Amino acid sequence: MIYKIIFLLSLSFNYDKFTANASSYCMPRQTKYGLVCVCTADHCDYLENPQPSSNELLIISSSKEGLRFAVSKLSFGEINTKTNTEISLNESNDDFKNSAVIVDNRQHFVQLLIDTSERSTSRFTPKLRVNRSVEYQKVTGFGGAFTGTVSLLLGLLDQKLQDHIYKSYYHKDGIGFNMLRTPIGGCDFDLAPWAYNEEPRDDIKLSNFQKLDPRDEIKVQQMERLKSVSDLETLKIMAAAWSSPTWMKTNGKWTGIGLLKTVYYKTWADYHLRFLELMDAKNMPIWAISTGNEPLNGIAFFFFVHFMSLGWIPRNQAVWLNDFLGPTIRKSKYKNVLIFGNDDQRYSYPWWFIQMNRTRPGVLNYLDGFAVHSYWDEMFAPNLIDLTVTQLPGKIVLNTESSIGDKPWQTHGPELGSWERGEQYARDILHNLQHSYNGWIDWNIVLDEQGGPSYVNNYVDAAVIVNTTNRAEIYKQPIFYSMGHFSKFVPEGSVRIEARMLSLAVEVVAFKRPDQRIAAVLLNGENHAVEVLLNDSVRGEITINLPAHSWHTIVYN
Ligand SMILES: *[C@@H]1O[C@H](CO)[C@@H](O)[C@H](O)[C@H]1NC(C)=O
Ligand SMILES: *[C@@H]1O[C@H](CO)[C@@H](O)[C@H](O)[C@H]1NC(C)=O
Ligand SMILES: *[C@@H]1O[C@H](CO)[C@@H](O)[C@H](O)[C@H]1NC(C)=O
Ligand SMILES: *[C@@H]1O[C@H](CO)[C@@H](O)[C@H](O)[C@H]1NC(C)=O
Ligand SMILES: *[C@@H]1O[C@H](CO)[C@@H](O)[C@H](O)[C@H]1NC(C)=O
Repeated sequence: MIYKIIFLLSLSFNYDKFTANASSYCMPRQTKYGLVCVCTADHCDYLENPQPSSNELLIISSSKEGLRFAVSKLSFGEINTKTNTEISLNESNDDFKNSAVIVDNRQHFVQLLIDTSERSTSRFTPKLRVNRSVEYQKVTGFGGAFTGTVSLLLGLLDQKLQDHIYKSYYHKDGIGFNMLRTPIGGCDFDLAPWAYNEEPRDDIKLSNFQKLDPRDEIKVQQMERLKSVSDLETLKIMAAAWSSPTWMKTNGKWTGIGLLKTVYYKTWADYHLRFLELMDAKNMPIWAISTGNEPLNGIAFFFFVHFMSLGWIPRNQAVWLNDFLGPTIRKSKYKNVLIFGNDDQRYSYPWWFIQMNRTRPGVLNYLDGFAVHSYWDEMFAPNLIDLTVTQLPGKIVLNTESSIGDKPWQTHGPELGSWERGEQYARDILHNLQHSYNGWIDWNIVLDEQGGPSYVNNYVDAAVIVNTTNRAEIYKQPIFYSMGHFSKFVPEGSVRIEARMLSLAVEVVAFKRPDQRIAAVLLNGENHAVEVLLNDSVRGEITINLPAHSWHTIVYN
């Protein structure tokens, strides 16, 4: 079936191609909840990063109706000659609606219309003001998690399909991730709980932690492959432990109320250093560690959390970080490895650090950053993070975990094709970046159809789902493109700039990239199209029509 895109260009531009298909197009499939893009060994969708020349403005769009990184390439201020251009692109599916991009240069007017029934827009045209001379935080990057589950699922797939997963996430023609989070030992997304040196017990020399576990050796090989097929020189790997071996814990178990026995504070610091050494020896250096995943699970939330966790209260963690972990790392060959604190939900900010500082004044000097999880972001405002950053300036703030499906009222597992879940991601990333966050890391980069495997049946959704029945298909969900609207177009080193939208219907965050171009990400969560008047402090004005439920990245000079 033919997927037809009609461009009605009321004027002629230096318009050369509709690049969404120049690289390779989305092979769409309608699912119960929406639409996914299918990848097989032989086909996967990519987008060569479109670069506007001095006069151009690019709009990269995804919409509930079916656009996925559709690129409109336009030029400002050329001589008007009326032409109509029609382009037909061959597609295997007719799920996509006819789409039209209408450009009227005389009025500096850009309309992106999808499905003619959506032409009616709200009459009010909100103004978006972009002032590139007002600068905020710098972007560190974006990434996803490489858990035992992820490694296992990748291992089921033939090399070509595995490579598509790596490239889709980490290549610049994919969504350009540069960060990766991995557990030290096991986590809930694994086939069993595990740690290094489980035996012998009470072994402060960690005599059985002299080489990587075979599971980690496989992970390292996969990460090597990821780097090479993605043309990635540096991969920022962040490592975090979920739990120590049980003999180091007060309750001797993987879960429940269990803290680190004080007698093992030194051993637990050495354990982290050993992991850094062994990963480095495999030429897979670690960029950052955290003080441990979700410390409150082992203190307060053990009724709900049944997976391996190590409990900390700020007072104890201050002692461990200040007297053991901090000095151990800073006096080692790995002194430049960054240390992130907390690695838990927003509601623990900023009191966690205030408490730590009370116990050991100066302890926070050992921290390079704050790691935040997004599970309760809808109930706890990002101002908590702003407050923390105001009181404790100079740290990198990263969201280090995010997924949907953990709440009692949510489907525990994928809602394949759900636009709503993608929109929830887009909104969360956008709000994070509008505040003090420097980057954003997703949870598992792939899961199976059920949202696992997880040894505690803790099923959730993921941006890419693997078909474990035929092992020949993976599904890129709207969540994937949602993250990509940021990660692909807002590379490391970009600086957030002022972008004010006088409307609640459309949300925006804008950046100045290292190449000096502007990238603005817009989110229309309304059921109808919304017209926005963009007013750039250098470029001037342009009107953009955003279709119902759509995301856009606008890139211009
Ligand atoms: C579409 O398919 C037709 C016939 O199969 C072919 O001639 C044409 O070049 C194709 N167009 C594109 C844009 O691939
Ligand atoms: C940390 O502790 C020191 C010494 O008690 C104090 O001066 C400082 O204000 C504290 N910082 C924060 C952010 O609470
Ligand atoms: C996975 O593949 C099988 C066999 O081709 C198919 O029946 C099933 O519907 C696929 N699963 C999903 C989630 O599409
Ligand atoms: C755009 O911004 C400039 C500078 O603030 C202002 O002079 C101009 O009136 C604005 N245009 C619109 C349409 O608001
Ligand atoms: C942009 O911000 C700068 C610095 O605050 C200010 O001087 C300038 O007037 C602003 N420009 C516009 C067009 O609002």
